[in-house]
Amino acid sequence: MIYVTRREVFAASHRLYNPKLSEAENFEIYDKCSSPNGHGHNFTLEVMVAGEIDKKTGYLIDLKELKNIIRKYIIDKVDHKHLNFDVEFLRGIIPTAENLAIAFWDQLKDKITNGKLYSVKIYETENNYTEYRGE
Ligand code: NI
Repeated sequence: MIYVTRREVFAASHRLYNPKLSEAENFEIYDKCSSPNGHGHNFTLEVMVAGEIDKKTGYLIDLKELKNIIRKYIIDKVDHKHLNFDVEFLRGIIPTAENLAIAFWDQLKDKITNGKLYSVKIYETENNYTEYRGE
């Protein structure tokens, strides 16, 4: 088994807020991340594909192709957007890094042309990241 990873970055805003809870409870849980108008991050997304090497090309998946898949199904939809309002596939989701990783996984899992999606990582800052492996 071989693994190939593509990194992409995007800028987006979000607000961590659960509409089922009071303002006070939201502030208790999310602190300043719940502030009404949201806040921004430069997110880093890492998508890892696993599989066997194609004997003809020596590739698992052509990284140009992986880049294009990630851009089409994720980056073009989330870059410079407000994740609470602007993105169809994030409707009704509290846009934490955890929930973003799962939502991005669901967008990508059937789109990988060679090998299988193995992991989706979302970095909100250099020091914090979340990883989802589909289970
Ligand atoms: Ni945030």
